[in-house]
Amino acid sequence: MIIVNSEQSIGLLNKSVADELAAVHQYMYFHFHLDDQGFAPLAKLFKRTAITEMGHVEALAERILFLKGDVQMAAAVPIATITDPAAMLARAIEMEQGSAHDYNCSAQTCGANADAVSKQIFERLVADEEGHQNEFEQQLENIRRFGLSYLALQSFGAAPAPKPA
Ligand SMILES: [Fe+2]
Ligand SMILES: [Fe+2]
Repeated sequence: MIIVNSEQSIGLLNKSVADELAAVHQYMYFHFHLDDQGFAPLAKLFKRTAITEMGHVEALAERILFLKGDVQMAAAVPIATITDPAAMLARAIEMEQGSAHDYNCSAQTCGANADAVSKQIFERLVADEEGHQNEFEQQLENIRRFGLSYLALQSFGAAPAPKPA
């Protein structure tokens, strides 16, 4: 059975795949640079988030194939070459807010088209993106309060114990 307006759902799902792929690329880029600067915990947060975004791509892709569409594996935008940790977080917060807004709208459209499963996927993604936004805001707030030494000290605590002589 063909779902009414499945074409519109497929379009929205593919738009979100592109958005998620852009986030995967951007967050891994942040991860590499933070790791290089010695800020291990924040580097790890971006890597963990990138992996979650990859899971989002998978959930969207499975739905697209069920609806008999094909997955367009192209990132929505090229990465921003930001290497300052606070600027990275500000960019990431913007991206999460944008995604959450788009997915809320997509959920409404899918609901109006009687495509409840796509609607649910979008709603689950909104909750995840708001969670990411919250994590990034906490990190940015700490940098603003304590400066970059906050990140450096965090990394010191997270460093592996020195090997016994
Ligand atoms: Fe996502
Ligand atoms: Fe996210």
